Amino acid sequence: MQNKTIVLIFCSILAVTSFTSCKHDVPQPAIANNNGNNGGGNGNGNGNGSLPPCDPDSVYFDQQILPILVSNCTMSGCHNSTTHAEGIDLTSYAAVMASDVVKPTHPYSSDLYKSITTNDPGDIMPPAPAAHLLTAQITLIKNWILQGAQDLHCDAGCDTTYVTYSNTIAPLMSTYCNGCHSGANASGGIDYTTYSSVSDAAADGSLYGSVIHDPNWSAMPKNSAMLPQCKIDQIRIWVNAGAPNN
Ligand code: HEC
Repeated sequence: MQNKTIVLIFCSILAVTSFTSCKHDVPQPAIANNNGNNGGGNGNGNGNGSLPPCDPDSVYFDQQILPILVSNCTMSGCHNSTTHAEGIDLTSYAAVMASDVVKPTHPYSSDLYKSITTNDPGDIMPPAPAAHLLTAQITLIKNWILQGAQDLHCDAGCDTTYVTYSNTIAPLMSTYCNGCHSGANASGGIDYTTYSSVSDAAADGSLYGSVIHDPNWSAMPKNSAMLPQCKIDQIRIWVNAGAPNN
């Protein structure tokens, strides 16, 4: 666990010297090989019929694990391909596996899993003041490792018929955005864990503008590939419907 201490110290030093935490001012991107996150139909919910349907018992790296890692671990100064704190880059499947933090089928010997579950406040990732990962996210990562830490792809389909805040938008924000946009240290001072903040962003155009990389807004999710097309469509549909609290 010494590694983790070093990572923490590294992040803390950055936090102090730049008087921001790892969360701010993310340098240029990182993800090039997040294949198909851009709507190419790769099992990210784009409805590509050439892939098998998603098996609810399997964990899919691109759809379920990568967004958690990008949102919680790849801020500036942390585990992205520019700063790769402690040699760890968590911005793509290849980078994660090359960082040697995952021992397939053995979560308890995997640094990735150990770092998000340790009781040691000095070792826990992400380091304070960032919030711990949610229990459901930790379970997903554990199951992904138990299942062999594979890079599986599937066709999740895309439900654009029943788009609601609680079933569609809030989980999307939680998966792709709130690792950065929550808590005392929320990126850009924007916390998207409440309906009112997300509906404000819908109303001023920043929510949709940022995810379609409209040049009037910062491109989001920061430091990552674009959202899968399905997610962008769902945001557009919800915004156009007046961003209801449903
Ligand atoms: C890795 C961290 C990170 C993730 C993930 C992230 N953001 Fe951001 N976001 C930032 C930072 C840092 C800022 C403030 C600086 C800036 O605008 O670049 C910001 C600013 C914004 C802004 C204000 C943009 C502007 O031009 O004023 C919006 C809107 C936004 N984010 C939406 C989102 C949405 C929606 C998601 C998820 C789809 C998301 N962000 C995911 C880090 C992140």
